[in-house]
Amino acid sequence: MENLEQIAEEIRTCRRCDLYRVKTNYVPGSGSEKAEVVFVGEAPGREEDLKGEPFVGNAGKLLNEMLSKIGLTRNDVFICNVLKCRPPNNRDPAPEEVEACGRYLERQLEVIRPKIIVCLGRFAANYIFNLFGLEFTSISKVKGKVFEAEAWGGKVKIVPIYHPAAVLYRPQLKKEYEENFRVVGKLLEKKQPTLFDYL
Ligand code: URA
Repeated sequence: MENLEQIAEEIRTCRRCDLYRVKTNYVPGSGSEKAEVVFVGEAPGREEDLKGEPFVGNAGKLLNEMLSKIGLTRNDVFICNVLKCRPPNNRDPAPEEVEACGRYLERQLEVIRPKIIVCLGRFAANYIFNLFGLEFTSISKVKGKVFEAEAWGGKVKIVPIYHPAAVLYRPQLKKEYEENFRVVGKLLEKKQPTLFDYL
């Protein structure tokens, strides 16, 4: 069974699409291999491209703040993106880039096998819904709701929420955003039933 570092090393030599030519650093993802929750964004932005780390710009600061509200740090979770290289000028990822890169995310998820996947924004939500055979409508319809899918011989919960950059752009969404994170916090609190619960 591979581990996250092996996948990251492979990403750092990737030439499966043309983005490697224009990026500064590959951004494979960061956090814990034992994470119960994985946050998935769209693609690295300027700061992430410079540092090789996901969500280290202003959107990342908001993500850190929201994590702390539910008693988590970045070390407790795993944070990554659908694309591991920055598209020039933060343009939308092209279908062939998603096709070339998506397998890395799938492999990362297979290694971690999280209980919960939080999709940050429409793009990640659309990708993750398709991956798990769910129908994606629009982020405003599904945000903050909990979906469930079969994965890795068990179940995974999928929680689509707005991208933190959208909340920075519309600060009036921040209260609702906190509530969305509390939903994730509550899911993590729920203990898995053991044999003793049935005796
Ligand atoms: N936006 C994203 O979708 N991902 C990042 O890592 C940073 C900004």
